[in-house]
Amino acid sequence: MDGGATAVARAHSNIALVKYWGKRDAALNTPAVGSISVTLDALYTDTRVTFTPGLAADEFWLAGCRGPVTRVSHVLDLVRGHAASLGLPASGLNAIVSSTNNFPTGAGLASSASGFAALAVAATGAAGLTLLSRELSILARYGSGSAARSIFGGFAEMHAGTAADGSDAYAEELLDQGAWPLAVVVAITEHGEKSINSTIGMNESKATSPFYPAWLDSADDDLAEMRAAIRDRDFTRLGELSEYNCLKLHALMLTTRPALIYWNAATVAAMHAVRALRAQGVPAYFTIDAGPQVKVLCLPGDAAAVQQAMTLVPGVHEARISALGPAAYRLE
Ligand code: ADP
Ligand code: DP6
Ligand code: CO
Repeated sequence: MDGGATAVARAHSNIALVKYWGKRDAALNTPAVGSISVTLDALYTDTRVTFTPGLAADEFWLAGCRGPVTRVSHVLDLVRGHAASLGLPASGLNAIVSSTNNFPTGAGLASSASGFAALAVAATGAAGLTLLSRELSILARYGSGSAARSIFGGFAEMHAGTAADGSDAYAEELLDQGAWPLAVVVAITEHGEKSINSTIGMNESKATSPFYPAWLDSADDDLAEMRAAIRDRDFTRLGELSEYNCLKLHALMLTTRPALIYWNAATVAAMHAVRALRAQGVPAYFTIDAGPQVKVLCLPGDAAAVQQAMTLVPGVHEARISALGPAAYRLE
């Protein structure tokens, strides 16, 4: 391809330990609460962006098929705006975006996180822009809130921010990927897409759940406690708080009207299996996003045993071990 117009990037998915659910401003896609996550080495997206002369409209290809282009074009429009202010040619060009996820899409494994983080890095690269990681995080946020965290590796914190223009709603790295090695066992119970996506689900929770005000009121306490657990490398505290925050999120989902029940039978069985492991002395804690998959936080030396236990749960199709992953980066 013609030099400078193409870039390829890889971004890893992440799993929130203190979760984002609810938007402060839908147009800016700013979150109503902050969040803290770990980036996952085993789950990632590769995205190629080519700004192409003569192309009538942006094209988005996901796993070789046409994918939903609206959010992709929104991120590209912001990139074109930056490029215009610098007089770069990408400002006037549509783009071909082609992407693959190495894990199920739209299933509660944060494909929107790795997908839009990879897009932010690839699109700015293809346009010839050099952005600070904070600016990349804001750009990724416009695609998906959780994507703001996938710009970073290791442990990341997303700030809810207060600014009217969303300029302080970005993520930052708390610890790099090597600072505190942990493992996450990803138990997949269903490969298909969820019926209510995260964006719609969280807007419905905000509009209908009587628990939503309590969710907002208690977020800062959870964030402060999680920051302290990470600072002190206190795995028990991190794990207990992750389960608590996860179950609080699902209580909010369950009290949404109509109810958001993202769990299936295997999800619940896996939760009990994790608690049984703990009773046997293995420090392992579950967390679950908007989908039926169960992620088990554990120490690297226990990962194989946790994987084995998850594989034995009826309805678990596969269990992948992941280390903590790196920040998003350019492949080409
Ligand atoms: P998930 O739990 O996978 O994050 P969401 O409902 O939040 O589920 O988001 C799924 C949506 O994210 C998809 O329908 C698609 O629009 C978008 N998405 C998934 N993968 C990519 C990708 N590689 N590049 C861009 N967008 C993606
Ligand atoms: C349960 O980031 O997918 O995974 O900003 O609308 O794209 P949009 O939502 P998204 O929501 C993630 C919700 C969550 C918790 C989390 O990742 O913090
Ligand atoms: Co998502």
